[in-house]
Amino acid sequence: MSIEILIDADALTVRAADLFVQASQEAVRERGQFMVALTGGSTPKTLYALLAQSRYAEAIPWQQTLVFEGDERCVPFDDERSNYGMAQRALLSKVPVPDGNLFPFPTDAGDPAQIAALYQQTLADVFAITPLDAPPVFDLILLGLGDDGHTCSLFPGMNTLTETAAWVISSPPGTLPPPVDRATFTFPVVNAARHCLFLVAGENKAEAVRDILEGGADIHRRPAAAVRPVHGELTWLLDKAAASLLKTTPS
Ligand code: 6PG
Repeated sequence: MSIEILIDADALTVRAADLFVQASQEAVRERGQFMVALTGGSTPKTLYALLAQSRYAEAIPWQQTLVFEGDERCVPFDDERSNYGMAQRALLSKVPVPDGNLFPFPTDAGDPAQIAALYQQTLADVFAITPLDAPPVFDLILLGLGDDGHTCSLFPGMNTLTETAAWVISSPPGTLPPPVDRATFTFPVVNAARHCLFLVAGENKAEAVRDILEGGADIHRRPAAAVRPVHGELTWLLDKAAASLLKTTPS
């Protein structure tokens, strides 16, 4: 695991953009495709805006980049709470990624359980594996951290945390806003990735960060503690505020 502490949220965004570009180029060089899952929330918004700028956008092999989401709020894309809508406005509408490479959750296709099941089938089709067999291996999964320690839409105290069979499941809203039903990757998918990259900024995240990185936190209380890629890398990008309660800081 690598923990990097950046001076502020802007520096964190630049570092994340560099890692995104690097991951995309390496994946295409080695495997011909870059399979990436985006995250929602407010922190990645600035990353997506930066990736849309020509310096980054021109360095990313968009034709070979397949874009998924790690979780979604069950609302239409044009709802301001939609994670995909946010990514689309900030990034995907501004770069030459083919429409056929975009895999948003089908939030208009039914109830949350149906949306999750359809998305799991999409993963199975695109990755050409049978559901419930070994989970798909993403090159990069971007992750956020909620103040309560959730990641994706895997919230404290819920039985979604111990799901071992399904790749994608529905989740009722957690206690943090917005209070909408979700569909989310499960930990088996997150932990199968080649690289999990947390983007965590702000003082309101400091307690959860400390509990997870120093306290050996219980996953039922701080779900993001369950992110431990089996074969892949785990990187935590923190700004100083998010890292402010860590006793030992990496040099
Ligand atoms: C969501 C998320 C969620 C998010 C964290 C952090 O749909 O809400 O994907 O897991 O990443 O809540 O969000 P912020 O960056 O807004 O704090």
